[in-house]
Amino acid sequence: MITIALPKGRVADDTLKIFSEIFKTEFAFENRKLILQKQDFTFLQVRNQDVPVYVERGACDLGVVGHDVLLETGARVCEMLDLNIGKCRISIATKAGKEIDYSKGSIKVATKMQNIAKDFFASRAMAADIVKLYGSIELAPLVGLADCIVDIVETGETLRQNGLVEVESILTSSVRVVANENSLATKRADILSIIEKIKVQIGA
Ligand code: PRP
Repeated sequence: MITIALPKGRVADDTLKIFSEIFKTEFAFENRKLILQKQDFTFLQVRNQDVPVYVERGACDLGVVGHDVLLETGARVCEMLDLNIGKCRISIATKAGKEIDYSKGSIKVATKMQNIAKDFFASRAMAADIVKLYGSIELAPLVGLADCIVDIVETGETLRQNGLVEVESILTSSVRVVANENSLATKRADILSIIEKIKVQIGA
């Protein structure tokens, strides 16, 4: 039995679709159920940011999660495969017409990714005064809550619609399949077998 943590929403749906295609039978969570057991797999439906925790601590053998979330949480897991979905970048953005003054010693940054933001500004010898938010990050520079934001940019539409400009891209991300280190030793053949099947299915 292989246990797999999936992040609620589109990535879970896309992953289960891949399993449905591989095994020619439908893999889907029943209404409100957080666990799905089918064939040799148990899927858990968890919050995106929680996927690395389930895998690192061994509650799940595998997880499906964005590269950005892995970096932010710093989880010790093994990256097995890039699913090439959920492509986005993590960027710094600020109010149109305003520039970031890299000569200053500190900067006020609104973000839900405080570690990525702190590390980036530290690499520019700046202290990031982090304003931790949980969503609608784009509002912060507009109301004087922060000088800039560090946030996910997919199409760039949210920035444009709110009068912000992307100053610099910090990293690019996509969804990865990760494995627990111990599981990779004890269930190696089973894990490598499903990874190979997924690879073939997505044409990686
Ligand atoms: C994310 C991100 C941006 C938006 C970027 O927000 O925080 O707001 O998507 O996408 P775009 O470049 O295609 O416009 P999410 O939908 O996760 O909602 P949130 O504001 O609650 O974090």
